[in-house]
Amino acid sequence: MSGPVPFIDLTRLVKRIRADVLSAWTECLDKCEFVGGPRVGAVEKKLASGLGVPFVVSCANGTDALLVALQAQGVKRGMKVALPNLTFWSTFEAVAQLGAIPVLVDIDPDDLQVSFDELKSAHEAHRFEALMLVHLYGWTSSRLGDIRAFCKEREIAIVEDGAQCFGVEVNGKPLLADAGVATLSFYPAKVVGGAMDGGAVTVQTKEHEVFLRSLCNHGRSDHYSYAHVGWNSRMGGLQAAFISRVLDEVPAILESRRASAAWYRERLSGDVALSKKVRVYGPPSGVTENGYLNVLTVEGKRGQEVVDALKAAGIGAARTYPETMDAQPPARAAGAVSHGALLRSRAFCEKVVNLPLFFDMRVDEREAAVAALSSIVATA
Ligand SMILES: Cc1ncc(COP(=O)(O)O)c(C=O)c1O
Repeated sequence: MSGPVPFIDLTRLVKRIRADVLSAWTECLDKCEFVGGPRVGAVEKKLASGLGVPFVVSCANGTDALLVALQAQGVKRGMKVALPNLTFWSTFEAVAQLGAIPVLVDIDPDDLQVSFDELKSAHEAHRFEALMLVHLYGWTSSRLGDIRAFCKEREIAIVEDGAQCFGVEVNGKPLLADAGVATLSFYPAKVVGGAMDGGAVTVQTKEHEVFLRSLCNHGRSDHYSYAHVGWNSRMGGLQAAFISRVLDEVPAILESRRASAAWYRERLSGDVALSKKVRVYGPPSGVTENGYLNVLTVEGKRGQEVVDALKAAGIGAARTYPETMDAQPPARAAGAVSHGALLRSRAFCEKVVNLPLFFDMRVDEREAAVAALSSIVATA
């Protein structure tokens, strides 16, 4: 292998779908299917059947999906909403934009998702009324069933942030099939990415579907009559056509990504010297990952040091995420409440590193990434 390895290369997927997408886009242009239209309805149905849910409502991006999903779950100004201290900022943003109060909860150090024990003690202390249950890194919590059951028993509304979990399965069943209200992001780097920003909400009831459709379309009850103060967050034909074609590739995408994720884990844990210093994270038992990200830490090294050295060696690498929610300056102004010292999430963010992982990645590219990591680890 010679030459640099990118962190992500979307062209490998685009090459496969290019001709079909171009012909669908030509039809869209000819029919002026720009906002909404039959392709949007069709892709929502395709998504619903793939995810094992009755209804999917599309919108403009995954952050809007979180905003409207929280509203569908009754979240209002002043309500407390728990979320993990380790997530993408938009999980926090959606809560804060609604004027609700984010309650930050620490993570489980093994699965890196919100800790069930911390969540229970946060509920004792803060009595939050809703939870943003984020499925991070391409898998989910080992305590998923316990978390859902606890929230049901305590009447805590859940929004499941599924931006990173398309294709994840729990005991052979799609993860979001049993979610009351969950969201997706079609940001191009996701497992199912669009040709521009895009998002969706999955729901179980017709009532929720009707409410969300209205909310994403200015709160309309009729063209110039409004049942709600809503948003303008809609998908168009070009994006729907692209996503629909990507969905046909899902089996190949998952096979390729899962193979790369497993290869990294085996290769790094199979090497005696590397395995003493490198910890590669992965799904808990019973959970099938989607291969969204490689996630590792190196003993004795800060994540930024490792990433700088990888980049100097020509290996694209990232840090998802270098800082927690509580470390962000606007968190205080948004009235965020920290439950406890949040030490585990902070310590993990200091160290996290992601090696390249994308659809159709070659073995020689993975080998090059591991070789570069090995020489960095040798100096740890
Ligand atoms: C966990 C998580 N939540 C929410 C989002 C927001 O999605 P979008 O970028 O489509 O607004 C993302 C993706 O970027 C994400 O990774």
